[in-house]
Amino acid sequence: MRMKNVKLLPLYEDTACALPVTERAAGKTTLFPARTPEEETVLAVGLGARDGNRDAVRLAGGNAARLLRTLEEDCEGVLKAPAGADKEWAEDFCEGFLLGAYRFDRWRGESFVRHEVTLSLAAEDAGYAAAFERAKVTAGSVCFARDLVNETPGTLYAQTMIDRLRVRLGDTPVTVEQISGDGLRDFAGLRAVSRGGHHEPAAAVLRYCTDENAPLVALIGKGITFDMGGMNLKSGRDLSGMRMDMGGAGAVAGAMDLLARRGVKANVIGVIALTENLPGEGATLPGEVVLFADGTTVQISNTDAEGRLLLADCLLYASRAGARWAVDAATLTGNMVQALGKKVTGVFGEDEAVSALTRLAKECGETVWPMPMVEEYADVLKSDYADMKNSVAEPGPGAIYAALFLHHFAKGMEWAHLDIAGTADTHKPWSCYPAGATGAGVRLMAAFAADRAMNG
Ligand code: BES
Ligand code: ZN
Ligand code: MN
Repeated sequence: MRMKNVKLLPLYEDTACALPVTERAAGKTTLFPARTPEEETVLAVGLGARDGNRDAVRLAGGNAARLLRTLEEDCEGVLKAPAGADKEWAEDFCEGFLLGAYRFDRWRGESFVRHEVTLSLAAEDAGYAAAFERAKVTAGSVCFARDLVNETPGTLYAQTMIDRLRVRLGDTPVTVEQISGDGLRDFAGLRAVSRGGHHEPAAAVLRYCTDENAPLVALIGKGITFDMGGMNLKSGRDLSGMRMDMGGAGAVAGAMDLLARRGVKANVIGVIALTENLPGEGATLPGEVVLFADGTTVQISNTDAEGRLLLADCLLYASRAGARWAVDAATLTGNMVQALGKKVTGVFGEDEAVSALTRLAKECGETVWPMPMVEEYADVLKSDYADMKNSVAEPGPGAIYAALFLHHFAKGMEWAHLDIAGTADTHKPWSCYPAGATGAGVRLMAAFAADRAMNG
């Protein structure tokens, strides 16, 4: 196997060089193939203005990797950092590159030719080795989450997902406790959703404690391994994307992995609830009432508003466990995609948690925007015969309604909610996101847990 070396040459707009300035806009790639066997192939990558924009650097790295993918050869990008780059720059570029080089090819057939796209540092840039290592750790955890989220519903369900967490986390201090069968007494929402499923439901609690004095942070994830809507059956020409409805749970798994591999001092639990939402025999019917662990009764007005039911169980669990801070991530509402599209995660919740997440997102390469928690709208969740209902029939701000539902169960904790319905996956590749799962929430939730250990 011959590895083709490609020199990666990131260029700012203000760098004096022959490449026109328009070709040096952030993320622009220009390939100069070797004309003779002695010559090297060079890939120029635009960095745009020298304004310290870290996302532009990740974009350059991601676009470079995805361009090398199109060459359909085994390629090693050899990074030559630009003059004036620092360690943070190198980390961002390498992280973007490694994330952009990701491929989910487990289900390709025999005729598919797998190519490696790898990264190394130019000999004179050896000083960036530690930054490169950090980027490898980050990308490793994000891609672990992507592998889970991309996986098909025939192979990834509650038990197999937990098995995979155990394998991956086996060499870290993170412990994985599985809760299933009778142990799910206090997970009434999860049990109700799972009734039509092919597989047994389960919850998992991941624990990572390297600082007993730090406030306990709970990371919570929606783990619907396939969302067919339940009895409120979904329709559509292609519902394959609904296998990624466990994107929140995948993000929690990736974040716990990342905290452990970075050796962060923190006190964190990950709580995920896993099941399918299918219209099988015995499935929960619209109109049924579910009694939650805190005594709240909920009318299931729509079985397709299932995520909030199992998140309620997880929030109550985290609150009982003594969490001071809680962040959940969930592919929760189609309305979120209408509101902010595919590139921005909506963040809801208490001001301090929301502002911490907004600040941290800017550093760690995720894009979030604060959404209002309009308590005045909370009456729409009133039921005619139970304490609450899980969905609202009238058209309206469904992502806000879902967040209001969750808020009811986030008792005694400083809580925030990430609606990643739009950002968990992409059909159109861009920046460091190849088609499929993006790993949204992994970096941000890890950053939040690390930040709260110090500042919370
Ligand atoms: N998993 C979906 C939300 C979703 C939709 C994620 C599209 C990704 C892409 C969620 O369980 C759902 O079905 N939500 C309903 C709620 C409604 C019934 C109140 C929705 O958004 O339509
Ligand atoms: Zn769902
Ligand atoms: Mn649904």
